[in-house]
Amino acid sequence: MSAISDLFSLKDKNVVITGASSGLGHHFSGVLSRAGANVILGARREEKIRERVEELVEAGGQATGLRLDVRDANSIDAFLEQAEQAYGPIDVIINNAGVESGAKTYAMIDEEDWDFVMETNLRSVWRISKAYTGQVVKNGRKQGNIVNITSITDTRTVKGQFPYAVSKGAVTRMTQVMALEAARFGIRVNALSPGYFMTDVSRVLLESAIAPEFVKGIPMRRLGEFPDLDGAILLLASDASRYMSGSVIVVDGGHTCASL
Ligand SMILES: NC(=O)c1ccc[n+]([C@@H]2O[C@H](COP(=O)([O-])OP(=O)(O)OC[C@H]3O[C@@H](n4cnc5c(N)ncnc54)[C@H](OP(=O)(O)O)[C@@H]3O)[C@@H](O)[C@H]2O)c1
Repeated sequence: MSAISDLFSLKDKNVVITGASSGLGHHFSGVLSRAGANVILGARREEKIRERVEELVEAGGQATGLRLDVRDANSIDAFLEQAEQAYGPIDVIINNAGVESGAKTYAMIDEEDWDFVMETNLRSVWRISKAYTGQVVKNGRKQGNIVNITSITDTRTVKGQFPYAVSKGAVTRMTQVMALEAARFGIRVNALSPGYFMTDVSRVLLESAIAPEFVKGIPMRRLGEFPDLDGAILLLASDASRYMSGSVIVVDGGHTCASL
């Protein structure tokens, strides 16, 4: 009988992480690598990706870094092709790349803000997932796994997170609709929905004057720390979640139980 920890093993799985040059994606690359995955890291800041790959390889993992701009369809296609060439067919895609546009309301943003956030956070998830599905079909594997990084702003938010919160609401819904449609290809689609973690995406809010009051609204009275996400990302990336599709796992210290 295999050990219970084998359930979450990613040994010999090829896992792509977008937006792996900083923040959550950078952290996930280490967690997934330690679980045995061959990780393929994508982002625009190539130097940061290179440094992370070196760290992972030094720690005994298999890692490759590739330039990726998720706003560019050609870049996505080239990235996925090269990712497949690196280790073979991709087992898991973590759609993590994301941006926000500052503390702005719907009345403050302009067309450029809208496009910047929606193209990066939303359209890219569809584009990457569609291209990945094409690869799965081409390889005749009938097996794939997509993990979208959404946010608790998909349902609960504070003023000034427009259009970020709108994009995440749509990513969560996209996860569910794609799960319905992707099952015929043998692809599972789930989402991880973090609460608030200090990164470049959340910095504007978490370093603002309202931050201390905001944190008091989290039942566990603290921001998330990257390792708080390890169990959830391992569950979704591994076969431990093999009968899960269309699920959204919230990791937020109870924040969504309270009034944000
Ligand atoms: N921090 C939080 O509290 C929180 C909460 C819930 C959800 N999230 C989500 O977690 C994900 C990661 O964000 P983070 O908080 O870790 O912030 P972060 O440190 O700013 O990371 C964002 C990542 O996305 C990448 N990225 C942005 N635009 C890109 C593009 N056009 N092409 C390729 N990569 C791009 C960035 O890399 P390059 O700049 O090098 O391209 C970076 O690696 C996002 O989807 C975010 O919405 C964060």
